[in-house]
Formats: sequence, structure tokens, C-alpha cells
Amino acid sequence: MISQAHSATLVGIEALPIVIEVDLVQASGEPRFTLVGLPDKAVEESRERVKSAVRNSELDWPRNRNILVNLAPGDIRKEGPSLDLPIAIAIAAAHGSVPISELEGTMILGEMGLDGKLRPIDGAVSVALMALEKGVRRLILPKQNAAEAAVAVGLEVYGVESLIEAVELLNGSSLFTPTRFDASAPSEAVRYEVDFSDVKGQRHAIRALEIAAAGGHNILMVGPPGSGKTMLARRLSTILPPLALEESIEVTRVHSAAGQKGHKTGLVWERPFRSPHHSASYAALVGGGKNPKPGEVSLAHFGVLFMDEMPEFDRTVLEALRQPLEDGVVTVARVQNTLTFPAECILVGAMNPCPCGYRGLPEQKCVSTPTQCVRYASKISGPLLDRIDIHLEVPRLKPDELLDMAPAEDSSTIRARVVAARERQTKRFGQPRVNAKMSPRQIREMVPLDAEGDALMRQVAVRMNISGRVFDRILRVGRTIADLAGEDQVRKVHLAEAVQYREKPW
Ligand SMILES: Nc1ncnc2c1ncn2[C@@H]1O[C@H](COP(=O)(O)OP(=O)(O)OP(=O)(O)O)[C@@H](O)[C@H]1O
Ligand SMILES: [Mg+2]
Ligand SMILES: [Zn+2]
Repeated sequence: MISQAHSATLVGIEALPIVIEVDLVQASGEPRFTLVGLPDKAVEESRERVKSAVRNSELDWPRNRNILVNLAPGDIRKEGPSLDLPIAIAIAAAHGSVPISELEGTMILGEMGLDGKLRPIDGAVSVALMALEKGVRRLILPKQNAAEAAVAVGLEVYGVESLIEAVELLNGSSLFTPTRFDASAPSEAVRYEVDFSDVKGQRHAIRALEIAAAGGHNILMVGPPGSGKTMLARRLSTILPPLALEESIEVTRVHSAAGQKGHKTGLVWERPFRSPHHSASYAALVGGGKNPKPGEVSLAHFGVLFMDEMPEFDRTVLEALRQPLEDGVVTVARVQNTLTFPAECILVGAMNPCPCGYRGLPEQKCVSTPTQCVRYASKISGPLLDRIDIHLEVPRLKPDELLDMAPAEDSSTIRARVVAARERQTKRFGQPRVNAKMSPRQIREMVPLDAEGDALMRQVAVRMNISGRVFDRILRVGRTIADLAGEDQVRKVHLAEAVQYREKPW
């Protein structure tokens, strides 16, 4: 008997359908168990797991039969152990322990232990959405993945704990209820572990972060060790607008495909905050590997990518950031082709004012030479700096600020203003878009200057000897400041504030 089971494999963050065919043929000698169709190593190993799992589940194993398993289509590299369960089920069906007809319209995935217990898989949400699109009726997968997969409303999603449960479900010998999408987890209910109310003083820095959040501006913080740069950056994600359902699905797809924890209870509703170490590999940061996985830039999708000690990052990594900062995606090379991952995030860079960290501090002496200082700063190249609208100095707290016990504004209060400013931008652009993404032409159209504002900008251009790009960055930030104030006209006060966030010469 030949049986067919439907399953899927991940390529990047996309799920592709796979068909597993099993043929059982009378064996003349020692029975063989053969897997064909470009299996990778994990799939090869699944032969052994399947054999043990079937035996330990007290299911009948076809004796004196050669088992031929074909994974189709043959030109797709199948990845990972998630084909264990469908292979076992297809063998069971060919052997008559499960009705072959039950496998129609059903997609099955799951990694198995030797005892037949299931382990969660990567990319369940991508699999479920693909299955729905392909007209699959029912999805059977490990219980831990069911909440996430249930996002594909209209698909019957069954979470099972073991091979034997999957067999019982297909045989109809026990009753299972499909998992429903839990829409009662609205993004407004997201609780972050940190809050801006934890921060003392630093009003100037918090204001700059509010502007960054409102207009989607990248930001570079420069300050001595211990001034609170990490603490501040960590809180930026808490004032971004709540994720919409579509955004949450996209974030979950990336995190799930990368095998990240946190999505196992359903969708990711928090804005991501990623803080890769500067020693992390190119693949870990940008994405890659034999079967490419999203890197930190993509894990920060719709959230914040924090690069502490930014000049310490590898030059190739910093260069690779240009594409995501510009296009919101990152392209990863594979052997034959390329993969594209979403990577739309706010970049927060942090660095010391000089290699020793103490430049400009009254209480400690800087021991860096001018040459060292210039070399340190120049590690962040011009094209990258061009994409950073806000340059912020973060000084150490003064004693009276440290002692200040007045409660600071909390993140939800700031977030409400950010949301309002974003709504104004969406209205102006006619679609969800942020000021940081304005083209030079849009800047001319969307940042109208009155006489006073125009006079100020002329003064700035002459006195500060700034480039056209820096000029445009001031206008973008000025636009956001006016949006936060709820004003259509970008006025002198808005621009004067924006000028403070310009890039300072070294
Ligand atoms: N404004 C602040 N309010 C409350 N605590 C603060 C503040 N600034 C700094 N701290 C405390 O000081 C510690 C150091 O801050 P943080 O690690 O953010 O500094 P940093 O600027 O990132 O330093 P480094 O350059 O060494 O990375 C934190 O643990 C934080 O608790
Ligand atoms: Mg730090
Ligand atoms: Zn120094």
C-alpha cells in the first residue's frame, strides 16, 4: 500500500508544502528503511527516531517489509526534525493502522522523542498560514505550537502531545477539540518589564527617545560609562505604539522561524528589543547559515535594535545595516539564490565620547589622544550616520538629579503621545509611514516653513556649515516634533529643538 502525508518545511521564514510518500514492499532479506528526496542530516536521523517512537508507542511496525519514504518535491532541501511525526503517520497509514483517507486535507508536523512524545517545532505560524492558503482543512502539530498556529483562523488546528495521540485523532478513537485563536490578548494589555518611570532625571534624553519613537528616527547616544545609555535604550520599545494584529503575526513569523522562545504561547505582542553583543557573528546579526535563519536585525523587526559600543562592531556588520535601515528588509545570500527577511526597526546606537570614555568629563581625565578619538568615531561611517537622525549626548546624572525623588512620567503616558503623533503621520502620508522615511521630495512637500522657521534654517545653514543631508535630517526631526505638538505648521520652536539633535563634529 502507498500512503501520502502532507507536511511542510521552512525556507527562511516561509513554509513550503512537502508530501511524504511511503511504500511498503515485501522484503526478501533483512528489511530496509530508506529515505529519499534530499533529506538533510536531521531528516536522516529521523529514521531512527521514527522506528523507536513507533515501537515505544506500541504501534504495529511493518515487519518483513522494505520501507521506502520519498520526500517530494525533490529539489527542496528539507530541514529539521519536524518531519518525524508525518513520516511515522505515513508509515502507520501504509501499514493500515490509520485510514489513508484521513491524511487527505491534513497537514502534520512534529519532532518526536524516542518515546513518541512531541517537541515543539519552529515556524508554526508560517506553516499554518501557508496551510490555510493552500486549502488544507486540518493541521496537526505539537501542543506547544497550537496557540501560535491558531492564528490561521479557518484552519482546524489540533495540538497533540505524542504520536499515539495523533494516531487516536486520525482514527477518531478519542475526541479532540481544535485550538481557537485567542483574540482576547489585545496588544494594549502588553506589560513590559521595564518602564520610563524607573529613570531618574535625563529629561532631555527621554524627550529625544519620545521623538525617535514618534517619527521612527534612528538615534545615536554618546555618553560616558554608567550614564544610563543602556537603561534608556531598553525602554524605547515600551513607548512604541502597540502592535497591530498583522504586525504581531509578522513579528511572530520571524521569531518562530528563528526558533526563539516567547512565541510558544501564541503571538508575540511586545515590541521587540534586541541587544546583540558586538562580538556576535555576521550571520547572527544579519542572518544566514546553511538554511538561513533571521538574524538580530530581523528579530528586531517592528521594534528596537540596540547596538551598544557601536564602534566595536565589525565593519562588515555596520555596512550591512544600511539596507535594512533604508528598505526595511535584509537580503541574505544562499548557495543558489537569496532570501529576504523583514527588518524594519529603530536603530539605537550607543558609544562613549572617546575610546577611554571620559572625554568632556570634569571629574575624570581623558587619556585618549586626538588621533585615537577620531579613529574611534570614524568607525561609524558616513553613509550609516546619514541614516541616524538624532544624535544625543547623555551626560552623567548630577547629584541633585540622583537624589530627585519626584516620580517620572511612565511609559504609557509617553506612548499615548507617540500614538497620536503617529496617527498624524499616517493621515499625512495616506498610509502607515513615519517621518524618518520621508524622501527629500516629501520633505519639501511636508515640512512647510513659515518666515521665522525659514530664517532660522538659513542661519543654521550659514553658521553651522552643515551639509544638505544634515539639513534634511533637521527638517525630518522638526516635522516629528511638530507632530508631537499636534501642529501642521513646523515652527521655529520645533526646528530649534531639532537642531540640538544634529550630528556634532568631533
Ligand atoms: N538616570 C538614571 N536613573 C536611574 N538609574 C540610573 C540612571 N542612569 C544610570 N542608572 C543606573 O546606573 C547603571 C548603569 O547604567 P547603564 O548601564 O545604562 O549605563 P551605560 O551608559 O550604558 O554605561 P556603559 O557605557 O558602561 O555601557 C544602571 O544599572 C542603572 O541602574
Ligand atoms: Mg551600557
Ligand atoms: Zn578619552
